[in-house]
Amino acid sequence: MTQLKPILSHVDNIPSAGKFKPDKSSLYYIHHRLRYQTSLPKLTIWSTIFLSLIVFFFFLSPPATPAPRRGLRTTTSYGGSGWESRIKLSAKPRSGTGHTVLVTGAAGFIGAHASVALKRRGDGVVGLDNFNHYYDITLKKSRKSKLLDRAGVFVVEGDINDVVLLRKLFGLVHFTHVLHLAAQAGVRYAMVNPNSYIRSNIDGLVNLLEVVKSSIAQPAIVWASSSSVYGLNSKVSFSEKDRTDQPASLYAATKKAGEEIAHAYNHIYGLSITGLRFFTVYGPWGRPDMAYFFFTKDILNRKQISIFEGPNHGTIARDFTYIDDIVKGCLSAIDTAKKSTGNGGKKKGEAQFRIINLGNTSPVSVHKLVSILEKLLKVKAKKKVVLMPRNGDVPITHANISLARMELGRVLGEVKKTSFPRNNLAVEEYGLMYRV
Ligand SMILES: NC(=O)c1ccc[n+]([C@@H]2O[C@H](COP(=O)([O-])OP(=O)(O)OC[C@H]3O[C@@H](n4cnc5c(N)ncnc54)[C@H](O)[C@@H]3O)[C@@H](O)[C@H]2O)c1
Ligand SMILES: *[C@@H]1O[C@H](CO)[C@@H](O)[C@H](O)[C@H]1NC(C)=O
Repeated sequence: MTQLKPILSHVDNIPSAGKFKPDKSSLYYIHHRLRYQTSLPKLTIWSTIFLSLIVFFFFLSPPATPAPRRGLRTTTSYGGSGWESRIKLSAKPRSGTGHTVLVTGAAGFIGAHASVALKRRGDGVVGLDNFNHYYDITLKKSRKSKLLDRAGVFVVEGDINDVVLLRKLFGLVHFTHVLHLAAQAGVRYAMVNPNSYIRSNIDGLVNLLEVVKSSIAQPAIVWASSSSVYGLNSKVSFSEKDRTDQPASLYAATKKAGEEIAHAYNHIYGLSITGLRFFTVYGPWGRPDMAYFFFTKDILNRKQISIFEGPNHGTIARDFTYIDDIVKGCLSAIDTAKKSTGNGGKKKGEAQFRIINLGNTSPVSVHKLVSILEKLLKVKAKKKVVLMPRNGDVPITHANISLARMELGRVLGEVKKTSFPRNNLAVEEYGLMYRV
């Protein structure tokens, strides 16, 4: 994985059932649908319930872990005039020149930071997130209450696979841009729950593109691909022209497929699309499935950590990129995105299509990472060095960002080289995660 847990990840790379909870987006979907229909005549209600049950069991049918009951939310549903006016308020830019952006995955690590940054600078923002249980949902809820609510960003709780919901949002608000960050992330988890990757990264992407392409004035799309698409490519640094046809994980394969799907929609419907290949993003409010996060936790608990090595003691390193730099890259991609040319599903001319690396261009080895954490935590880590298993991770990631400098202009050019970690982030992170 290029990124996320990859790194050093094996500490808990053997995914235990308790650690990763099944994605329950389909449950949310049904539930919302049921609540949404309650005002219809009885017959419709019952046939809807009946159909929903069929769909429900259909989704449950793969031999997945039974979903715990707490996955069903009873507090939120969509619809109603209060709900609509909150969306409209959140969508309103401060001035006439501001953008109106739909941010998917808004309760996620990058989505929360990007939404807040857009809102702060005056853009209108509507968030969308299904709050799935891939990692501790309290962290997602806290990002919502402590970052998003405070900045005035309303987050719709729903799934990108919910066409009815998406159509409703696009009917309520005229979005100028979509920042699509919702996805099933993580490399190793793909061996535990492969279908969640297909559902969110393929089905969900197509569903979103379908709704976007049929909208009257199509928004421009900026979305998250990943450095993992470089897969077994051994030439460093990675440049956008390098081959990306040898994915090392199902996660990478779905991101690569997403890039091809995006190209088809750009070609057929005139959608303006920018795919950003993020390189291992770190920072406050980060993801607990990533190495810097769980290493910190284990070091503080005096637990042994496993450090990966390549064959012949080869270095494992990641091009760690600080969250603020990624957010700047996203905003700049939005600002430099040209308009989509299509309208209501009809292409009116060629539209912009870009794929751009967003990385720090200075890989940090796992050993270095651990020594930085030891210094910050003032605790010596108990280390065990093991050979990196070949189950998704690649040895080194290193971004060539000359295209980003050119395309995203000054904004990214100003980004200073960041060293890892820039400050006490890992420690803060640990505190945050375990206090909430
Ligand atoms: N963090 C990194 O290092 C990194 C690197 C490369 C690419 N990316 C990509 O960047 C994006 C954001 O990553 P992140 O680190 O913030 O991950 P994250 O898991 O914290 O955020 C993703 C959010 O999307 C939501 N989501 C997932 N499936 C959904 C669905 N079907 N409908 C609605 N919401 C859904 C999740 O609940 C989550 O809050 C992802 O597309 C990821 O693949 C991240
Ligand atoms: C980065 O990529 C560009 C082409 O996109 C190339 O001209 C340049 O030499 C590359 N830089 C390095 C250090 O490989």
